[in-house]
Amino acid sequence: MVAISQPIQAGTGQMRPFLPTGVDCGAGLIKVCINSNSSQMRLRQPSKVLELKSPLIEELTSKEGGHFFYHSGDRPDLIDREFLTGELAVWKAPATHIKLSDDPALKAEYALHAILGALATLPHRQEWGLFIVISTHSRDLFSAKLKELTNGTHVVSFGGKEKPSTRVKINFGSVTPEGAGSYTYAKRLNLIDSSAHVIGFDFGTSTTIPQVFAPNGKLIHHQPLEVGGCIDLLDAIASDPELIQHLRTGKSGSIELIRKAVESGYFVYGNRGFSIRPIYARLIKSWLADRLRLALKAIEEWRDSAQSFVAWGGGTEMPGIQKMLATQNITTVPDGSWANAIGMQTIAAALLARRN
Ligand SMILES: Nc1ncnc2c1ncn2[C@@H]1O[C@H](COP(=O)(O)OP(=O)(O)OP(=O)(O)O)[C@@H](O)[C@H]1O
Ligand SMILES: [Mg+2]
Repeated sequence: MVAISQPIQAGTGQMRPFLPTGVDCGAGLIKVCINSNSSQMRLRQPSKVLELKSPLIEELTSKEGGHFFYHSGDRPDLIDREFLTGELAVWKAPATHIKLSDDPALKAEYALHAILGALATLPHRQEWGLFIVISTHSRDLFSAKLKELTNGTHVVSFGGKEKPSTRVKINFGSVTPEGAGSYTYAKRLNLIDSSAHVIGFDFGTSTTIPQVFAPNGKLIHHQPLEVGGCIDLLDAIASDPELIQHLRTGKSGSIELIRKAVESGYFVYGNRGFSIRPIYARLIKSWLADRLRLALKAIEEWRDSAQSFVAWGGGTEMPGIQKMLATQNITTVPDGSWANAIGMQTIAAALLARRN
C-alpha cells in the first residue's frame, strides 16, 4: 500500500477527531484516502480477502494488504476471527481467496475488512477515528448494508492476535454514487465546467462506464458498457500468440505479471526479460477505440450540451491512453485511479465540517 505522506505517530490515548476518509471499493483495487493533519494518505490493495483458519507460521507484511484479528466491537459475527486482505490473501491462498469482483454484494460484505486491512499497513496507533464516505454502483441495494456492516467501534490487533490492540471507530458519513468522487476531484482541479453537462468515462479493472452529470453535478446516467475494462486488454495480451509462443508452455500468460509489466511502464514480463511492448502497442488502440465508440454512443443525447469530457479510473494511467484520449478532446485527470477516492475524501471533509 502506498502511503505518500508522513505516517501518523503512535496513539497517545487521547480522543482524536474523526479523519475524513474516502473509500473506493473497485472490482480490482480498493483505494482508501485518509486526510490527517492536512496530509493525505493513499492506501491501495487488491480487492481480495481470506479468512485464516489457523495462525500464520510467520507474520506477513505488504504495502498492499493487511492482517487483522477481531477482538470485540459492533461486528459480533467477526469476534475471534482473523483475516488477510489484498496481496497477503493472494500470497497465502492463490487459488481459494475471495475475489470481491465475483459478486457486487461482496463489496458491501467485506468493506470493513478492506478498511481494516488498509489501516494494518500503517504504523501502530491505539485508536483510529474515521469519518467515511464510500461509493457503490447501486445505492438502493447496498447503502443500508454498507452502513450496518462498517459503522461503529471495532477492536482489532493488526498482524495477529497477540499484537497490541487498536480501537477503530468508524463514523459512516454517506454513500455516494460511483463517479461522484471523481467529479468532485475534477471540479477542484478546474478540469470541468460544472455549469453544463459533464461526460465522464471511467476506465476501471472490470468495467468501462460512461457517466453523465447534470449541470451542478448530479449523476443522471451511469451504465457500464457490455465490454469490460482493463482486464479485457490484459486478457488479450495474455492469450496473444506472440506471448504464448515465447512462453513455450502452450498456456496463456499470467495476468498479474502483465499488469505489473504495464504498470511499471517497462513492459518486461516477469523475470524472462521478454518485452510485451510490441503486443501492447498492437492491442491498445483497438481496445480504447472500441470502448470510446460504445461509450460515445451511450451518451449521444447529452453530447451536444456537454461542455466537458473527462476520463478517470486506473485505465487512464496506462501508457499512451492520455495522449489518445486528448486527440478526441477528452481530458484525463491526473492520478486517474485515485480520482474517486480522493474526491470522496473531499466530500467527507465537507460533510464533517458541516456536522461540527
Ligand atoms: N499507474 C498505473 N499504470 C498503468 N496502469 C494502471 C496504473 N494504475 C492502475 N492501472 C490499471 O488500472 C486498473 C485498475 O483501475 P481501477 O483502480 O480504476 O479499477 P477498479 O476500480 O478496481 O475497477 P472497477 O472500476 O471496474 O470496479 C489496473 O488493473 C491497471 O490495469
Ligand atoms: Mg473503479
